[in-house]
Amino acid sequence: MASPDARPRPGARPRNVHTLLKARLPARLFQILRQAGTTGDRQQTPVYAVGGFVRDLLLNTPTGDVDLVVEGRGIRFAKTFAQHHKARVTAHERFGTATVTFADGHRLDIATARTERYARPAALPTVTPGTIGDDLARRDFTINALAVRLNPARFGDLVDVLGGERDLRGKTIRVLHERSFIEDPTRAFRAIRFEQRLGFRLSRDTARLLREAARRRVVRRLSPSRLSDAVIHVLSERDPGAILAGLADFDLLHDIHPRLRWSPAAARLLKDAGRVLARHTRIHPDRPVQPWVVYGMAVMSTLPRPAVNAVLARLPFPRRQAHLILQAMHTRDRLLPALAQRRRVVPLETIRLLRTLPDETLIFLRAAVPSATGKRRLSALLAAAQRATPVLTGHDLRAMGLTPGPLYTRILNRLWDARLKGAVTTETGERRLVARLTRPS
Ligand code: CTP
Repeated sequence: MASPDARPRPGARPRNVHTLLKARLPARLFQILRQAGTTGDRQQTPVYAVGGFVRDLLLNTPTGDVDLVVEGRGIRFAKTFAQHHKARVTAHERFGTATVTFADGHRLDIATARTERYARPAALPTVTPGTIGDDLARRDFTINALAVRLNPARFGDLVDVLGGERDLRGKTIRVLHERSFIEDPTRAFRAIRFEQRLGFRLSRDTARLLREAARRRVVRRLSPSRLSDAVIHVLSERDPGAILAGLADFDLLHDIHPRLRWSPAAARLLKDAGRVLARHTRIHPDRPVQPWVVYGMAVMSTLPRPAVNAVLARLPFPRRQAHLILQAMHTRDRLLPALAQRRRVVPLETIRLLRTLPDETLIFLRAAVPSATGKRRLSALLAAAQRATPVLTGHDLRAMGLTPGPLYTRILNRLWDARLKGAVTTETGERRLVARLTRPS
């Protein structure tokens, strides 16, 4: 737990990180923070940058979203700030929060400083306005309970009343109080995520509290949507395998699904998926994919099918991604046996299957095929499928006077088949085939 000895002596001047902000932030972001401070002064309101932004600033790692906290009326501040700087503002009155989006795409999330009280473990808390100190004390870990003052006269003053900087130096993840994991079980996932992402360790007390919370199965109290968000966050990290292994150490995978286990085979599969993903990004920077979906496929493929269905029924993943994950399981079941056969000729429908798959699924399949021979055969099939892509497109069919509709898919499929079999090798050949297919009988 955060120890009180971390509090600065009364009257001591806080550390100022103005120079750090100037040196480490892009000039435009620095300017936006300056402007936020000025608006704060105009409204006689203390304003701070908080949380992960300050943590990443002090660690000198790239920062994600910028969160501001205002001691006073956050939404009023956001509206004035946006008005002065021709930005867009979306307010969430119920939560006292707002998002300000600048024309150049920069975004700030603004909240009113608050205290939180949990009526029931794992439920959403009731909130009341508070001071910056209250706001930091309601947070998850000391390293995330840091703030930087933005008002001009005190621009860059670090607010570190809970020992955040000390723990950053000591590479320690430490909760702020005994009930942290009980009140908000998503913090169990967060603790392991930060531990692995930053290369930190849980403090002894924090590890003990996490073990206790796991024993009380607190994660099961989370609503499906909060659990699903927590899982997506894990799968979106750079090395989800390490985090899943950490969750398994605390027996937390069990709460996602009782059949979910961590094994050397699962670890290998996720590592392979990471390698294929990295290669894809290098070779096709123009074809961005969602890594979490690839890792989701990999994790699900370690489960028996009824368990996959159960997880997808329980966790409300976005619909398209859930569909892709399920489809990947079907494809794997059809493809792997075909690739394992010694026969050199692969059935046409197997190659056809590959043609329409999204990159996420292809990346997963490349990782999931177990043998080197299987991987080579898959590459050859993909190359063949790629080569068979017709020159003609829907655009051309339109130019040929054909009415758009399901007919297009039928024609393009036939062209693709003909290319694959070598029956058609040129654009003229394709046009001839289209003419034959559309001739009135
Ligand atoms: N927070 C918390 N408890 C949670 C979630 C968030 O106390 N369950 C607080 C932390 O102070 C955190 C801040 O809210 O720093 C912002 O949360 P979020 O944006 O989810 O996380 P970041 O710390 O910014 O981490 P990431 O780099 O993963 O975005």
